[in-house]
Amino acid sequence: MVHVLVYAVLSFILLMLVIMTYQFHHLEKASHDATEDNKNHLNLSQGFVYTSLVLVIIAMIAYTWYLVKGTPYEGHLMEWLNIVVRLMHITFGIAWIGASFYFVFLENALNRTEDVRDELAGNLWAVHGGGFYYLEKYKVAPKTLPKHLHWFKYEAYFTWVSGFSLLFVVYYFNAKAMLIDSTVMNLSAAQAISIGVGSFVVAWLLYDLLCKSPLIKKPLAFAIIGFALLTGFAWFYAHVFNARAAYIHFGAMIGSLMAANVFFVIIPGQKAMVAAAKIGQPVDPSYGKKALARSLHNNYFTLPVLFVMVSNHFPSTFGNAQSWAVLAAISLGAAGVKHYLNLKEKGRYNVFILPVSVAVLLAVCFVTAPQKNTDECKPNVSFAEVNAIIQKRCVQCHSAKPTDDVYTAAPNGVMYDTPDQVVKKKDLIMQRVVITKTMPQNNKTNITPGERNTLRCWIEQGAVVK
Ligand code: HEC
Repeated sequence: MVHVLVYAVLSFILLMLVIMTYQFHHLEKASHDATEDNKNHLNLSQGFVYTSLVLVIIAMIAYTWYLVKGTPYEGHLMEWLNIVVRLMHITFGIAWIGASFYFVFLENALNRTEDVRDELAGNLWAVHGGGFYYLEKYKVAPKTLPKHLHWFKYEAYFTWVSGFSLLFVVYYFNAKAMLIDSTVMNLSAAQAISIGVGSFVVAWLLYDLLCKSPLIKKPLAFAIIGFALLTGFAWFYAHVFNARAAYIHFGAMIGSLMAANVFFVIIPGQKAMVAAAKIGQPVDPSYGKKALARSLHNNYFTLPVLFVMVSNHFPSTFGNAQSWAVLAAISLGAAGVKHYLNLKEKGRYNVFILPVSVAVLLAVCFVTAPQKNTDECKPNVSFAEVNAIIQKRCVQCHSAKPTDDVYTAAPNGVMYDTPDQVVKKKDLIMQRVVITKTMPQNNKTNITPGERNTLRCWIEQGAVVK
């Protein structure tokens, strides 16, 4: 009964807030000739309502979680939270990265010489979606500002907020299984989460310092030191968290730098430019230059971050013994490819950047290849031996009825209840248990090297049930 009441109250507040957003929408439409003060006031109230909306939704989810905690529905709720937040994250991320690619392309491809008015930096003709577009970039700012000026910032903020939420849904709410590997470092959940979140702040302070140092004028030195710093973070995460969480933190750290660039540098700079232009004062071009530099950094960050987003599927990368070096090298190769594309858009064909970047990526592929295993195998390993290992080390999670405290449903649908199920997944077992050693997860069930070897021998001898 109490539950129904709580939901009813929360739903009512939610409904009221939604109605208010419509009201604001009307007011906004009617506010064309309102004073600046009134408009600011409206914006503030609107912000307040949107924030309340989000908070009420979070309260509803939290209450639902409280209700289903410890029941089989908990896993289901987490899965759906994961789906919703993840979908939001990739949608905003695509919008943001798309805008980044598009504007860096614009900047690179501007016609800066032919028929360009004095106040312009350049222009560009484009055809897309069945229409012709003509764009102009001003050297600093137009003489009078247009009434409607589109800002690109929410895609960045929402990508970060949804990404941060996803970090909580997947890794922090379930820190024991997803974040911590006691064989790497024995941390409590609170410690691990604080290190994760704290590392983003430290990374920003260091990177911001680097950007404000004279080094920013020397792109090559900046890139080298910046890359060394990033590699340091990759190394740090790999020595604190479990392998996957380490990768995700590397991506989340870079994503945080990107969002902070937008929030602390690019948008404030643009606001100052707009404010100066509005009162007819000369616009300080250094704002634009700083913003452009940060926006270019963000552009180079995109491909490494995208790799991290999908890296969870590739145990040969995060499962490598030197997973941090693999991550750093892939980031380097990916950013190199982006650099080649950026130069190409400017009409500069560099002969060695692309081959070198591809060579770096191929080298990673080569280095992470499975090593020939020379451990002895006894002839004819029997299925009974293998099944004993699987039943001892795997079915806690991989079963129709798992007994694990975290996984109440078979992860990825993988079950080892029958011989057939084991045989069918033999290649994946080889990959996860023998080559990358990423299963059992965090070696929770303490499989021994000898047992891994027995599994390998059985698979190499044909994986027969006898
Ligand atoms: C503590 C729980 C747990 C234990 C014990 C465990 N696993 Fe897993 N396993 C998972 C989770 C969670 C996933 C999904 C995430 C992932 O792929 O890492 C998974 C995924 C897998 C996959 C990949 C499936 C796919 O579709 O890619 C394989 C194969 C696998 N496990 C095999 C094993 C084997 C073999 C053992 C025993 C030697 C084992 N696991 C023990 C939790 C566990």
